[in-house]
Amino acid sequence: MSATATPTATISLDGKTASLPVLKGTLGPAVADIRKLQAELGVFTYDPAYGTTAACDSKITFIDGDEGVLLHRGYPIDQLATNATFPEVAFLLLNGEMPTKAEDAAFNATLRQHTMLHEQLRHFFNGFRRDAHPMAMLCGTVGALAAFYHDHLDINDPKQREICAMRLIAKVPTLAAWAYKYTQGFPFVYPRNDLSYAENFLYMMFAMPSEKYEVSPVLARAMDRILILHADHEQNASTSTVRLAGSTGANPFACIAAGIAALWGPAHGGANEAVLKMLAEIGSKENIPDFVAKVKDKNSGVKLMGFGHRVYKNFDPRAKIMQQTCHEVLAELGITDEPMLDLAVELERIALEDPYFVQRKLYPNVDFYSGIILKAMGIPTSMFTVLFAVARTVGWISQWKEMIEEPGQRIGRPRQLYTGAPRRDLVPLAQRG
Ligand code: ACO
Repeated sequence: MSATATPTATISLDGKTASLPVLKGTLGPAVADIRKLQAELGVFTYDPAYGTTAACDSKITFIDGDEGVLLHRGYPIDQLATNATFPEVAFLLLNGEMPTKAEDAAFNATLRQHTMLHEQLRHFFNGFRRDAHPMAMLCGTVGALAAFYHDHLDINDPKQREICAMRLIAKVPTLAAWAYKYTQGFPFVYPRNDLSYAENFLYMMFAMPSEKYEVSPVLARAMDRILILHADHEQNASTSTVRLAGSTGANPFACIAAGIAALWGPAHGGANEAVLKMLAEIGSKENIPDFVAKVKDKNSGVKLMGFGHRVYKNFDPRAKIMQQTCHEVLAELGITDEPMLDLAVELERIALEDPYFVQRKLYPNVDFYSGIILKAMGIPTSMFTVLFAVARTVGWISQWKEMIEEPGQRIGRPRQLYTGAPRRDLVPLAQRG
């Protein structure tokens, strides 16, 4: 633990007092270290959904939700998104520093070496129904990777940890693109290692063996930027899932598969798909007031998708870059009239002026515009969360590696407030009527 202890917080209960050290990190609020609370006062803390609990210390990502700040290893997200490539950001997240030119070349060369999949893994796809969701295929095949590398699964060996990390970052785009090809009945396209990471993904997604395919540099840059914006986001639901699974000593392929499963939900990675669905349902600008009224009615169960965030109570800094990228991509593609974008801009304007959203500090999150960009790029909606998983794999594996390397790392084990039946005696079935 690198945090420094400052004053203590005291909690008193039934005449006993516990003194809790208050730890201060480099940035962000201090945290009260409650680990001795149960021993000293006999109580646990209660924090469903972990809204005020720091479950680890980490040097990777910092978020100030009130100010709308996102830093990776200290670098602001807008600087990374505009001046670095996704592999540079991947190197940074994994290793703590931006790569030198030589390190960048070596890192990219290693990634390229690992883009191929074992041929036996191809056969896994045939086991899926043609209409399987690509997230189901990604989750299954990433977990299955462990079956191909069981001689490199010693998580206590730093070299093996590094090889697993590189394999995952390199192979997940291939698995993702193949999941898409399978749903379309198209032939799988093998990676081309003369291409950049983002170019290669677009190539495997859209090339056909029968035709020459040139990757658009504009789309490749947009894809690279989308990957950077989704690369890591501190202790979100999927990352915490990866850490919890990894805390048991489970292999990294299994842990990342668990992260993919957690990302699948509409409250997390599925939100940009849900934004497009919502915009299609609203249909046109005249229907926005009715829709907003429905969102504000607590009994309707309708949410404004792409708005709100557990941590950001201000603009999600990624949303600003995404909005700008959205305009750039549409301009480059010559799409001057995109009704969905017009609708989104108007919906955002109305929501940002409405007291319901203002009072609750609900602002657009990263997903509000990403779906529109992806749609314009020709990425089908069922692939949106898959793409998020491709990007987030680097964050997950960096967080997993950091956790495994933490001295004294222990299995994660939350406690509970039990509200079920007290102890009672079983009545055998014959006597139960
Ligand atoms: N639409 C309408 N009301 C909302 C929304 C929304 N999108 N988000 C939050 N609220 C309301 C809540 O109902 C609550 O109202 P109340 O105080 O009257 O009860 C209030 O705003 C505060 O919200 P929280 O409950 O504190 O928000 P929470 O942290 O639990 O949820 C979440 C965050 C899940 C992201 C939520 O805002 C949401 O569902 N948004 C839509 C889905 C979405 O865009 N998810 C993507 C998140 S970003 C990502 O994963 C990359």
